[in-house]
Amino acid sequence: MKRSTIRLAICLSFFVGTSCKQNQPQTANTLIENATWWKEAIVYQIYPRSFKDSDGDGIGDLKGIIEKLDYIKSLGVTAVWLNPIYTSPNADNGYDVSDYRDIMAEFGTMEDFDNMLEGMHQRDIKLVMDIVVNHSSDEHEWFKQSRSSRDNPYRNYYHWWPAEKGKPPYRYSLFDAKGDAWQYDSITDAFYLHYFAKQQPDLNWSNPKVRQEVYDIMKFWAEKGVDGFRLDAFQFAAKDTTYPKFPDGFEKDFIQYYAMQDGLHSYLKEMNEEVFSKYDVMSVAEGAGRNFEDAHNLVDADRKELNMAYAFEGVDIPKYEGYDLSTMKEIFTKWDQEFAKEGWLSIFLANHDQARMVSRWGNDDPKFRSASTKLLNTFMLSMRGTPYCYYGDELGMTNIDFDSISQYQDIAAINGYQKALSEGEDMELFMEKLNFSSRDNGRTPMQWNETENAGFTSGTPWLPVNENYIDINVDEENSNPKSVLNHFKKMAELRKQNPILIYGSYELVEPEHPTIYAYTRNLDGKLVLVLLNFSEEKSEITLDKKWGNHTVLINNYSGLDYIDKSIKLMPYQAVILNID
Ligand code: GLC
Repeated sequence: MKRSTIRLAICLSFFVGTSCKQNQPQTANTLIENATWWKEAIVYQIYPRSFKDSDGDGIGDLKGIIEKLDYIKSLGVTAVWLNPIYTSPNADNGYDVSDYRDIMAEFGTMEDFDNMLEGMHQRDIKLVMDIVVNHSSDEHEWFKQSRSSRDNPYRNYYHWWPAEKGKPPYRYSLFDAKGDAWQYDSITDAFYLHYFAKQQPDLNWSNPKVRQEVYDIMKFWAEKGVDGFRLDAFQFAAKDTTYPKFPDGFEKDFIQYYAMQDGLHSYLKEMNEEVFSKYDVMSVAEGAGRNFEDAHNLVDADRKELNMAYAFEGVDIPKYEGYDLSTMKEIFTKWDQEFAKEGWLSIFLANHDQARMVSRWGNDDPKFRSASTKLLNTFMLSMRGTPYCYYGDELGMTNIDFDSISQYQDIAAINGYQKALSEGEDMELFMEKLNFSSRDNGRTPMQWNETENAGFTSGTPWLPVNENYIDINVDEENSNPKSVLNHFKKMAELRKQNPILIYGSYELVEPEHPTIYAYTRNLDGKLVLVLLNFSEEKSEITLDKKWGNHTVLINNYSGLDYIDKSIKLMPYQAVILNID
C-alpha cells in the first residue's frame, strides 16, 4: 500500500521514560463565552450499512446500532452522525433518497428508529441526521412526476433544459461515467441536471415549494427529537440557471464555479428561521465554500445560518502522492487562525468518502499502525473545533486491498473506472490510485471480534471484511490496556475533562520542524503543549524554558525521552503536556 512521503526508516530502539508525573486533569471552571453542547461534542460517525447487522442479510441496520449503544457510550463520544437511513434505491448508498420520511427497509423500520433514538438519549448521546437535499433520487415521487410531462406541477422541482434549445452548456458531474451533468430524458425530450450520478437529479432550490418541502421534512425529524442536521453537498444547492460558459478545464477547480452561488445564503437564513431557530438542533454543512469569506458567512453566529461547516482543504491534500507535514500544519493552522475569534469549525481526517485515516495520514504497517493511529486520534481530539471521529478509526481499521474493479461497490469508483477507460487513461495507475483512495476503503464492515466476518454479520457481508480483523477488533482491543481503542477512550475523557482542549486558543510551535507537529492550547493563563511525531524515526524537539515544569496528560508510549533541554519522541509518539 502507498505510504506517505514523510514515512522514513524503521527505528526499533527502546527507551526509558523519565520524569513523567501522573496524569492530572485540569478542572478549569472558566465561564466560556458562547459555550454550547455542539462545540463540546465528540461526534462519532456511523456508516449504518457497515456497522452491525442484526438479521443476517449482510447489511448493517438500526437494530444492530441499538445492540451497540453501550459500546458507543463507552467510547466517550457524545453525539452520533448517522449517514442517510431513508428509503433509497441505493445508487449511492442512501445519498439518493426516494422517501425522506421513511426508513430504508434494509435498515429496519420507523419503530427501530424511535427505539434507537430513545436508546441514544437515555445514554446522553445526541443524534445528527444527514439531510441530502441538493438532489433526490430519480425514484422519488417528485422526480417521477417532474419527468412525466413538461406541465406537471412538479416540473419545476428540478432543473430541466428543453432539447429544442440544443445541447445544454457543459456541466461536469462528479460521479457520471461520461462526466456529463446533463442527462437526456426522452419522455419530455429534455435534459435534467445532476451534479452527482444520473440517479441523483438536482433539486431546484429557487422554487419556494421545494424549500418548504425540505423544511417540513426537517421539522418532521426535529419533532421526533433528533439533535442536529448535517447538510449534504449543500454548498451546491443554488445554481446560476443562466448557465454561463465556464472556462476550459474548470472541472479541476469546480468548487469555485459550483459552490455558494447566489441565493444560497438566503436559503440558509430561511432554513434557520423555519427550522434551526425553533428546535435545539445543531447544523453543519458539508463544504465551507470557495474561500474564508464564504466559510465565515456560513457559520458566523450573527448571520443566523449554520453552526459549523466541514472545510475540505485538509482532506483535499493530495492523497495517493502522499502528503508532507508542513502542508498539513499550514492548512490546519490557517483555518484555526481564521476562526480564532468568530465562527466554529469541524475537525476530521476521515469519513465515508475517504480512505481510512491511518492508511492515509498515519502508517498502516503493523509496526506503526497502533502508534500512528493513537497519534492521529490525539490530534483529532486536541484541536480546536468539533471532532468528527469515523467508526473504526477508534480501532485503527485500515484500507482494504482490492485489485479488480469487480470488487468495488461504490458508484464513484465504478463510474470513474468507466470514464477513465473511455478517456484512454493509464489504467494500471488508475487502479493503483483507486486502491489507495477509494471510498470503499472507508466502508468495510466494523470489526467487532475474531469470529467469522468479524462479528459484523452471520450472513455474507455486502462489502468484504478486512482480513486483518483477527488482530484489529473491538474485543481484542478492549482487553488490551495499551490498545488504540483504550487510548481513544482516554483521549476522549481528557478532552471532556479539560475545557482548554475544546476552547483554548491554538498556536503552532516550531512551524519548520520537518517531522514534529507541535502546538499549544491556551485558556485563562493555562497552557498545554501537544507534541506529535509524524515519522517512523525518532525526532527531537527543543523544550522552550517556559515549558520546563510540566506533567504528562497523555502519552501513547510508556515514557518520554528527555535529553538535556529537548525531548526525543519515538516513532509516531504523541504526548500532551500540561505546563505548570
Ligand atoms: C456527499 C456525501 C457523499 C455522496 C455525495 C452525493 O459528498 O458525503 O457520500 O456521495 O454527497 O450525495
